[in-house]
Amino acid sequence: MNISLHNKTAIVTGAATGIGRAIAIMLGQAGARVIVNHLNRAREADQVVQAIAAAGGWAAAIEADVTNAHQVRQMVESCNQIDILVNNAGVIAEKPFLDITELEWDHVLNSDLKSVFLCSQAVLGRMAKQGTGIIVNISSDLGYLGREQYASYCAAKAGVIGLTRSLAREFAPAIRINAVAPGPVNTAMLSTESMSMEWIAKEKDIPYQRFAEPDEIAATVLFLISDYARFYCGQVLGPNGGSIMP
Ligand SMILES: NC(=O)c1ccc[n+]([C@@H]2O[C@H](COP(=O)([O-])OP(=O)(O)OC[C@H]3O[C@@H](n4cnc5c(N)ncnc54)[C@H](O)[C@@H]3O)[C@@H](O)[C@H]2O)c1
Repeated sequence: MNISLHNKTAIVTGAATGIGRAIAIMLGQAGARVIVNHLNRAREADQVVQAIAAAGGWAAAIEADVTNAHQVRQMVESCNQIDILVNNAGVIAEKPFLDITELEWDHVLNSDLKSVFLCSQAVLGRMAKQGTGIIVNISSDLGYLGREQYASYCAAKAGVIGLTRSLAREFAPAIRINAVAPGPVNTAMLSTESMSMEWIAKEKDIPYQRFAEPDEIAATVLFLISDYARFYCGQVLGPNGGSIMP
């Protein structure tokens, strides 16, 4: 597949680390100008910018808390052009359901779901006016499966799927909106959680019996952004090693 994103500008949220980093670099390598959004991760974001520059591309780091409407608006207004938005930023939280505080619930829902609302709303007016645009939202296989002790995360990621489908219908055919729901990926997000490699080995509920690498998720995002995916609308692709087969 030969995918060129020359003359396209992409915002990738939470792009300083993990999956977002891999997405930003892959889009940069494909020729896109990349806005590397981050929160309190200036050093890592600069490394992503440098990696894209080293590959001959252009990128800039912009710090903005994607749970904050004002900061999201400022980030979007600072961009001359926006063709692509990848809503990737997120957090995870593991806790028995009965112990989750309202504050903790709000933090996860704000980071994983409200952020998608805010960033999408901030770009969609402009995309609608220009008559083109592409949005890819990062959900999770846990949005389908649910998981004990991850109620807030699973609820937020299921919400991302509903939001994706609603916006895909509302803005079709001019703007193409889809989602990716990865299974476990080898990033810092999982390293501190109970969903470890040992968990995979023990439960054996992933036929491929391994985590994905961030690049494997980025490749799915790149496909959805490309023209090869021009007939995809409101779909949720699952690079998950078989954890779910919806
Ligand atoms: N790692 C996995 O197994 C896995 C599986 C399925 C889905 N996901 C999803 O993939 C996405 C990326 O996660 P990751 O695994 O790369 O973990 P990660 O922790 O490396 O990346 C998340 C990024 O989001 C940023 N972020 C968090 N809150 C933010 C905010 N308010 N504003 C701006 N940036 C913010 C973090 O600073 C971090 O850089 C997340 O949405 C996550 O839920 C991850």
